Amino acid sequence: MEEMTMDKAKELLSRGVSEAEQLISDPSKVEGVLVQLEEKLKEVPAIGESLSDIPLMISMVKGYITGAYKEVSPKVIVTILGAFIYLVKKKDLIPDRIPVIGIVDDIAVLTMALKFTEPELNAYKAWRDGAGIAREAEAPGMFPVAEVPAETETAAEPAAPVREKIEIEDYAGEILKALPAGILLTTKSADKVNSMVIGWGTFGVNWSRPVFAAYVREGRFTREMLDMNPEFTVNIPVGEFDKKILAVCGSKSGRDLDKIAEAGLTTVEGNTVSVPAIREFPLTLECKVVYRQKQELTDLPVDILQKFYPQNVESAPGANRDAHITYYGEITDAYILRNRK
Ligand SMILES: Cc1cc2nc3c(=O)[nH]c(=O)nc-3n(C[C@H](O)[C@H](O)[C@H](O)COP(=O)(O)O)c2cc1C
Repeated sequence: MEEMTMDKAKELLSRGVSEAEQLISDPSKVEGVLVQLEEKLKEVPAIGESLSDIPLMISMVKGYITGAYKEVSPKVIVTILGAFIYLVKKKDLIPDRIPVIGIVDDIAVLTMALKFTEPELNAYKAWRDGAGIAREAEAPGMFPVAEVPAETETAAEPAAPVREKIEIEDYAGEILKALPAGILLTTKSADKVNSMVIGWGTFGVNWSRPVFAAYVREGRFTREMLDMNPEFTVNIPVGEFDKKILAVCGSKSGRDLDKIAEAGLTTVEGNTVSVPAIREFPLTLECKVVYRQKQELTDLPVDILQKFYPQNVESAPGANRDAHITYYGEITDAYILRNRK
């Protein structure tokens, strides 16, 4: 047997995909494929070990069919399922006499599926980690750990941190890199402070001013807060942080609870806005909304519409009918909160 070419792998994958397209609307059949695959992988530990993304792929497919995770297009699910069907249908995952080549074949088909779906898998992983669903290992922080001078005070209340001013263009890369895993958008209205996780944002220049544009779905409590007080802070982690913060602020609503207290966040008075910064997510942009614009769903391409605004799915984390409102915030100050020496 020859080592499988990419073309052959593609062909085998597309055969699996055709079958997967028939199954996708029947969750019990999808579940059947996953059960068979998990059984097969038990017999072939080498494959499970060598392709460490398989559990993540299985988890995303399960999330999709149970409705827990809908921010992925059916096409991606069908691609992964297609590779799974190929593996399940193979008589022996590893032929007795030529085990190494057997593995190479299987890996080629899975690698092909991975190549087509990697961005969505990364987004799913970020969502899963942020949503606090069981995870195997802690993801490393997005930033190198900042050099924060040690606390010297012994009082129960730590001294207020200092603001170290930054040039935003020096941190644009870090902010954009941190976004997909989740950063915080904090608002304040009538003395209530609320932080929500955002994974989308645009950072640049508009009306000759530095602008951070945030995309907030209409139904969010944050949208109500912003409409009452059009100011916000963007809070970005630096180094390690408690993952509970993303879990709480990315899945619960400020309508129902005090997320600042629940997530163990410490607020630090803003400099140019009435909204505070967040000590635990110390890289801060202070923003004043200069323009808001509701996105017209009918103007969006069909694939985006189906993926992000499925109208036949009840509103739930990760699945929403509401449009996003873009809040263009002029950046009025930017700094990192540092502990006092
Ligand atoms: C990683 C991640 C990224 C998110 N990105 C956004 C976003 O960009 N816009 C949005 O409206 N919701 C986003 N959400 C969902 C909100 O954070 C979530 O619905 C939150 O509970 C809303 O809080 P609120 O009701 O207090 O405003 C994201 C959630 C996670 C976990």
